Order: sequence, then structure tokens, then C-alpha cells
Amino acid sequence: MSDDLRIANEEDLERLRRMLRKVAGDDIETVCRRLESRDEARILDIACGDCREAEVLSDFVAELKGAPESAVKLTGIDVRAREIANAEKKFGRRRGPDGKRGKREFEFLTGDATKLRGHAEMGDDFDLVFMRHQNYWNGDSTWEKIFDQALEKLGTDGRLVITSYFDKEHSLALEALQRLGGELIRTEFNPETRELSTPGKSVDRHVAIFKRKGS
Ligand SMILES: C[S@@+](CC[C@H](N)C(=O)[O-])C[C@H]1O[C@@H](n2cnc3c(N)ncnc32)[C@H](O)[C@@H]1O
Repeated sequence: MSDDLRIANEEDLERLRRMLRKVAGDDIETVCRRLESRDEARILDIACGDCREAEVLSDFVAELKGAPESAVKLTGIDVRAREIANAEKKFGRRRGPDGKRGKREFEFLTGDATKLRGHAEMGDDFDLVFMRHQNYWNGDSTWEKIFDQALEKLGTDGRLVITSYFDKEHSLALEALQRLGGELIRTEFNPETRELSTPGKSVDRHVAIFKRKGS
């Protein structure tokens, strides 16, 4: 990876960090209450690719808990084995506590997220289920299955967050998630989004947060 691309990726992650804080802002109290009662906060990152956001997500959840030193476990799943191998290489399995951060555990699985119910080993009752650059536009029936099971993986008062590359794809995903039982809490355009070479495509262009209807 060139230095320019590495720096661009790092800047994208800082912007993602700001966007997560922004979308979580409205209902922070409910989420914080849930997190306070958890010994270890749990994140599920679906279709995570090389999961470059693993640290940003675990820091974000620890921050919401009000204790950067608290333990967080992130499980990432993607159908592409090579991406999962890269995630494992980058983040390893365990880190910390290191003075600033608490214990971090990373678990990366190669698998089909349309069959999340079959992955009993990952458990459920997640505090945060996350999908960065969901790909609804590229296969609505696949992504409807993924969205449906992603919502099932949420614990009571847990939150689901998606990001999207395109305006149209984002609105299709918002519509599908609401139809499948998600309640949209907030969606935000990222004013700092980095434009990519495909017209209308940019990094974490939109970020939206959901809860399960009735939870
Ligand atoms: C647009 S990429 C986003 C990757 C990563 N989240 C990111 O932001 O760079 C969509 C990802 O969905 C994954 N994917 C597609 N279908 C999948 C499935 N059925 N189960 C798990 N992952 C899937 C692809 O392998 C790819 O990594």
C-alpha cells in the first residue's frame, strides 16, 4: 500500500470516529446504561473485509461505556478468506490492557453472513452490530438476509450501525432495514467524506444508526 493510501485510510478512520459519535449522540443514555452493566462489551462487524475499523469501533464502544480501560471483544466476519487473514495479521487475537486501553479481543471468521444463525459460536446479545460500506445495491436478496440476521444479533438496547458509499444504496438499505424490523434513530451525511474515482462514491458517505423495533 502506498504511503498516500495509508494516510488516506487513517484519515478516513478518524472521520468515521467523528461520525460514530455524531450518530450516537441522540440516544446515548440508553446505550450507556446497557454498556455499564456489561463486563465485556461486544461488537459484531459483518462483511468486515480486512476490518481496518476494528480499533476505532472498540475504542468507540469503550468510550460510550465511559471507561476507555474497559474490555471489548470484536468479532468480524467476511466471506473472503484473504481479507480475514489480513485482519488477523493486523490485529492479532488479543491486546492490552496497555495503560490507555482496556483488554481487546479480536476474533475474525471466514463465513457467509447470510447464514449468521448457523454461527452459534459467535453468540448473540451484541452491543453494537456494524456494517461498513454495506453492499445492498450489489445483491438485494443477499443483503436482506444479512440485514435480517444482523438485527437478530442485537441485544436489547443494542445498536446497529451501517455506512454506505452511495446515496442511492444508502436509501435502499435504510428502507430494507426498517422493513425488516429496524427502527431508524438517525442518519447523517458525512461532510468530510473522501470522494473516490467512481462518480457519487465516497468513503463512509452516510452513516446511520438503528435499534430493533420495540426494544
Ligand atoms: C463493499 S465491501 C466492504 C468491506 C469492508 N467492510 C470495508 O468497508 O472496506 C463488501 C464486503 O461484503 C463482503 N460480503 C459480501 N457478501 C458476503 C456474505 N454473504 N457474507 C459475508 N461477507 C460478505 C465482501 O467480501 C466485502 O468484503
